[in-house]
Amino acid sequence: MKNYQDVVRDRYDNPESKAVPDIWALLGRIGHYSEGKIRDLLWRSVNIARSGGLDLGKATILDIGCGSGFWTRVMAEYKGSPEDIYGVDLSSLRIAQAKKMNGFISYELCDIVEGIPSFGVTFDMVLLFDVLMHLRSQGQIDKAMANIGRLLNKDGWLLVYDAWAPDHFTSSSGSDWQGFSERQLLDAVKSAGMRIVTKENVFKYLWKNRHSALVAHSRPRMFVEIAERLYPGNPGNIAVLARKSGSGV
Ligand SMILES: C[S@@+](CC[C@H](N)C(=O)[O-])C[C@H]1O[C@@H](n2cnc3c(N)ncnc32)[C@H](O)[C@@H]1O
Repeated sequence: MKNYQDVVRDRYDNPESKAVPDIWALLGRIGHYSEGKIRDLLWRSVNIARSGGLDLGKATILDIGCGSGFWTRVMAEYKGSPEDIYGVDLSSLRIAQAKKMNGFISYELCDIVEGIPSFGVTFDMVLLFDVLMHLRSQGQIDKAMANIGRLLNKDGWLLVYDAWAPDHFTSSSGSDWQGFSERQLLDAVKSAGMRIVTKENVFKYLWKNRHSALVAHSRPRMFVEIAERLYPGNPGNIAVLARKSGSGV
């Protein structure tokens, strides 16, 4: 796997990059299907947190590796306000896009391995979607998770969503990212001082080892959803909702 700094430079900071193919665009069938599944996950998780005492109207929320800010915007809709919503990312291009799209949400550049700005607050909820997949070594993951753990309030919630793979640490040298086994992702979350509340699989590798989101390109949504339930494949992605240790759900 490549260095995350190189990947951010070539994949996310390069306006000409085709590393994120157009098929994932929101208006395409794959992008639309994926966004719906991840939004369902976020909706369920936010409601679990609310039933566990999260006062969303007053909550401070941080999206780590926020990209161009799509999920911060969704959180602002759920919250009813862009106040107290923050995003950080290592890509200056993506942070600029996020600021342009979401003028009242606060964003900063940072490398989560080196440190995460606190914006002068501590956080009630942190999102970490498809970011750990870019960190190559256990040391980088440990540092990032320790930085995240420090920023969370004592009852704070963490929602991690990432790609699945049998093993994070065996990947081809040229890949931009690599997923995690369930054990590896759970261990990473626990290392931030978090207690696991729920774990769920999202998407699935279906026949010919094809990620179900890609199958949505050519098949109706209902077909893909039924296949995800019935087909005996590996998960496509894993989501873990966790809470700072010591607090009750
Ligand atoms: C696959 S994208 C996910 C974006 C967003 N979370 C989403 O789900 O749409 C990964 C993002 O993580 C960012 N990233 C990668 N390594 C990072 C690091 N060390 N610190 C901060 N951001 C990082 C990239 O710049 C990119 O925007």
